[in-house]
Amino acid sequence: MSAVLYTIATAVWLMLPAYITNSSAAFFGGTIPIDRGIYWGKSRLLGDGKTYEGLIKGISCGVIVGIVQNLFAGEYIDLPSFGTFPFFFVPLVCLSAGAMLGDLLGSFLKRRVGLKRGAPFPLVDQLDFVAGAWLLLFLFAREWFIDFFPLNIILAIIVITPLLHLLTNYLGFKIGKKQVPW
Ligand code: CTP
Ligand code: MG
Repeated sequence: MSAVLYTIATAVWLMLPAYITNSSAAFFGGTIPIDRGIYWGKSRLLGDGKTYEGLIKGISCGVIVGIVQNLFAGEYIDLPSFGTFPFFFVPLVCLSAGAMLGDLLGSFLKRRVGLKRGAPFPLVDQLDFVAGAWLLLFLFAREWFIDFFPLNIILAIIVITPLLHLLTNYLGFKIGKKQVPW
């Protein structure tokens, strides 16, 4: 495999639990808003697009996919492992819970600048969950994060994620899971 392809594959592999978390939250959705309908100023704190069900199902799916990835890592495919049992839970929970945290912060920011639920906010919509995942990794799995996320991987993730996000959101829109294609 060429070096560029291997970098892209590694970047996607490392971020897959976060990607799965984000897309499962959107796929399953939910009804109970995390902000319980509370307003801050003129706008909702977070909005109806952030639900408890989405949060729980998203994090669960992300961690489960990460565990499955770890069964293959190293053994069958030459891609990084999240660690041995039970230590792999630390990076996996950081990736999944961090993705949801970043998504919440993104919505919080959108409401503060007056954007309604579902209104596009370029780059924030596509990268808020990446920032959240990296924040938790940096705080709680720093060694693993620094080992496996050199600059070329970080750059690959920043470039690939918005493209993948737009693609999956378009698919979500087509299958009727998302109101808008972004
Ligand atoms: N979702 C959820 N709970 C979460 C996150 C997402 O139920 N914690 C679901 C909601 O149905 C949401 C959809 O996933 O509408 C897509 O998520 P996202 O695009 O992040 O939300 P938006 O509806 O665009 O809302 P916002 O403007 O706040 O980003
Ligand atoms: Mg969002």
